[in-house]
Amino acid sequence: MSDWVRIADASEIADDEPFASEWNGEAIALYRHEGEIFAIGDICTHEHVRLSDGWFEGDRIECPLHQSCFEIRTGKVIEGGPASEDVASYQVKVEDGAVFVKRGI
Ligand code: FES
Repeated sequence: MSDWVRIADASEIADDEPFASEWNGEAIALYRHEGEIFAIGDICTHEHVRLSDGWFEGDRIECPLHQSCFEIRTGKVIEGGPASEDVASYQVKVEDGAVFVKRGI
């Protein structure tokens, strides 16, 4: 994904509630936090579990299976459970009410 991809309507993404999406087989989770939207890979790097089914608090999402925490701005694993690899991170832009993402920060 080297170009911007439309992935959701901004109105679908509620404050502090994970939004699971997908593009071309790539699971991507969107998070709205303090008025800003962030996007990271949605599959935990430890086992195949959607992070968006986990607990979202502040700037982190906690994996529902073994509680590894990932930073929603960067996809970096920050503490907790057994995951040691980061998930993908995406740039995000909102235009005319639509959310676009692009790989990398
Ligand atoms: S599956 Fe996410 S920490 Fe184990």
